[in-house]
Amino acid sequence: MAVSQACLRYAMGVNMKAAIVGCGSIARVHAGCIQSSDNHSLAAFADTITEKADSFAKQYNGHAYPSLEEMLEKEEIDVLHICTPHYLHVPMAVYALERGVHVFMEKPPVISKEQLEQLQAVHTGKKMGICFQNRYNPSVIQVKKLIDSGEAGNINGARGIVTWSRSKVYYTGSGWRGNLAAEGGGALINQSIHTLDLLAYFLGKPISVDATMANHHLKGVTEVEDMMEAFLCFEGDKTACFYATTAYCSDVPPLIELSCDNMTIRIEDLEVTCYYKTGKMEKLPVRRMECLGKSYWGAGHRDCIADFYDSIEKKRPFSLDLKGLNETILLMLGTYESARTGREIMIHA
Ligand SMILES: NC(=O)c1ccc[n+]([C@@H]2O[C@H](COP(=O)([O-])OP(=O)(O)OC[C@H]3O[C@@H](n4cnc5c(N)ncnc54)[C@H](O)[C@@H]3O)[C@@H](O)[C@H]2O)c1
Repeated sequence: MAVSQACLRYAMGVNMKAAIVGCGSIARVHAGCIQSSDNHSLAAFADTITEKADSFAKQYNGHAYPSLEEMLEKEEIDVLHICTPHYLHVPMAVYALERGVHVFMEKPPVISKEQLEQLQAVHTGKKMGICFQNRYNPSVIQVKKLIDSGEAGNINGARGIVTWSRSKVYYTGSGWRGNLAAEGGGALINQSIHTLDLLAYFLGKPISVDATMANHHLKGVTEVEDMMEAFLCFEGDKTACFYATTAYCSDVPPLIELSCDNMTIRIEDLEVTCYYKTGKMEKLPVRRMECLGKSYWGAGHRDCIADFYDSIEKKRPFSLDLKGLNETILLMLGTYESARTGREIMIHA
């Protein structure tokens, strides 16, 4: 019986081989995370702009390819990192999973209900993880522990606010951002999806969403929204107010505030502040961590990627898979549907 090189490496306890498709901004963060791991290596890079793949291959000592197809045909890869424009995530994930490769993809996992169904229909036994790295921020982990301990009491409501700056050049210089078919949306699906995800993470099962969106500052430049606001209802009579814009003058840390029975908890980047009902205010000690990308993206990429590889090695579930992120995906698609139709959308009846 033929034994593949990948099986041999596992049997020998040797590292996993990774490849990256899409050698742009975020790919540098993924490459840095793999390079700094003790066990895994970067083998290959694909980009339609061959100079970009060449530059990564040179820096990280791997091979460069002009397409995903050619890369997977010529290389024996264990994990593919998908760092391409949004509309390509699903077709590339399906292509790799069906060829026996584990997939770690950047957000968003899908840009439409149709793409969600395509991804749900793939069952190959290979793992797929999605990069919601802010779940690994020490501040988020600390607050989850505090909520689970019962000390804060029940969560009654929350707000999530993202105010960032994205200029005309950010869109016109990219070739895909600002194009509805390629990006799938704007301020929500690209910039503030992590904050929406954290609201779902803390508040639980979403019941309904009522949203509006607008393009205030880049009319005629982009086809996507630069502002999304939503009123979200969750199981247990919990509600959340969500506001995201890319029309602000600078990039400030997103705010997530949880209003609980005994205190109000604010997460801003790596800071956590508790405001007790007694009037006392306390900053929780939070572990500092090195951030490989921009600080307001969150610092969790390294831990998120390490956890994904560990879940493959130990053959255990990875929490940020399609099932684990189901509520976030439904909430995002429902928010767009509500904003596009002007109707409240029921997510779970
Ligand atoms: N998790 C985060 O915080 C975070 C932060 C930034 C970006 N991202 C995500 O990362 C992804 C990429 O964003 P970016 O800012 O790096 O974009 P980018 O435009 O800098 O890079 C995308 C790269 O994909 C390449 N590409 C396009 N079509 C291709 C194809 N068919 N085959 C191979 N390569 C192709 C482009 O040439 C480009 O080099 C997006 O999904 C984005 O939302 C996530």
